[in-house]
Amino acid sequence: MSRLNTSFVLLSIIMGLLLLVQALPPDVEANYNIVNYGAKSDGRTDSSGPLSSAWQAACTSTNSSTIYIPGGTFMLKPVTLKGPCKSNRIIVQIDGTLMAPSSYNTDSQWIKFEHVDGVSIYGGTINGQGQTLWSCKSSNNDCPSGATSLIFNDAKNIMISGLTSIDSELYHIVIHGCEGVQVQGVKINAPGNSPNTDGIHVQKSTNVTITGTDIKTGDDCISIGPGTTNLWIEGVTCGPGHGISIGSLGKEKEEEGVQNVVVKNTVFTRSQNGLRIKTWGRPSDSFVKGVVFEHALMHNVHNPIIIDQNYCPHNLGCPGQSSGVKIRGVAYNDIQGSSASKVAVNFDCSPSNPCRGIVLEDIKLTYRNKHAESYCKNVDGTAYGPLVPPSCF
Ligand SMILES: *[C@@H]1O[C@H](CO)[C@@H](O)[C@H](O)[C@H]1NC(C)=O
Ligand SMILES: *[C@@H]1O[C@H](CO)[C@@H](O)[C@H](O)[C@H]1NC(C)=O
Repeated sequence: MSRLNTSFVLLSIIMGLLLLVQALPPDVEANYNIVNYGAKSDGRTDSSGPLSSAWQAACTSTNSSTIYIPGGTFMLKPVTLKGPCKSNRIIVQIDGTLMAPSSYNTDSQWIKFEHVDGVSIYGGTINGQGQTLWSCKSSNNDCPSGATSLIFNDAKNIMISGLTSIDSELYHIVIHGCEGVQVQGVKINAPGNSPNTDGIHVQKSTNVTITGTDIKTGDDCISIGPGTTNLWIEGVTCGPGHGISIGSLGKEKEEEGVQNVVVKNTVFTRSQNGLRIKTWGRPSDSFVKGVVFEHALMHNVHNPIIIDQNYCPHNLGCPGQSSGVKIRGVAYNDIQGSSASKVAVNFDCSPSNPCRGIVLEDIKLTYRNKHAESYCKNVDGTAYGPLVPPSCF
């Protein structure tokens, strides 16, 4: 055999062994079915005790394990699943529906994971039953702000795949203080007029990807808060909803910035905004740096492209409406479709901190089948390729 052939055979053997190793289960996998811990799929009996017990068993075992929630509807009161765990591979396989109690209370989280590493959620539906709280809010009573349906706080190596979240009281999914989170094939659904029901909120987190996700909700489809770095969003649909939003930033004087964000292959349908950056009109040392928005399709979106540095509800504490947030290096490439308002490209930046390094390339946005308009204030940028509306830099 020639030397080349010998190394090829050796390589094949090594590859074969590697494949074999991968095909074997990583360890003896323990399976914790919540029904064995007393959960009942009758939609009435609280399953938070059984779920916590199953979690305790999985978390204290060194083996990788699966917590199994079978088909049917399990009522679940607010629950915190805490680490650190001995195992760094816990799968939560949901075939059925977890349903929040129909009456709201003062908890600010419904299903909370904290200090965990290596937790994956596959499938299932979580139903926050937000209607009771929303009607309280619309009748202007003294109502609590509501609970986020699913939150990962201070966690690492997380996967959320194939989950459906409906009717959250407040945010659907929050990723806070995390490293390495994949959200894929998730569906989010709440009415367009449900208050503060952001789809996915990411804050103080790094290496987060959100892909293949459909969001219909009453507030931002995805909101990106202070301290977010290396965020990749791809293949997301939004609408109804308030768009994909970096911000609000700059509420605090001392605040972490947002850096390295890619948003690509998105479709917005009748949403309030498309691609938005929003900051408070007040002093802050926060920033937005290195953002790429590319390949977005807009269907009748009110503000397809918008930077708004004047956010100041109730007009309190915003001297001169001048935001301290520095916006540097934001590229828009291949953004097409229809705007529901005349100004389709709106850069309304801070007088004390003008936006710098804004790039527009291949934009085609129409308003009632005619050219839309663009608006520039305190912004500096460059434009390439066909641009409709023409740039106002
Ligand atoms: C964990 O795995 C070991 C073998 O690797 C097995 O003996 C043990 O019973 C397993 N523990 C649980 C809780 O399943
Ligand atoms: C984020 O991902 C990059 C590239 O994979 C890696 O080098 C870096 O260590 C990660 N950062 C954190 C905090 O996990």
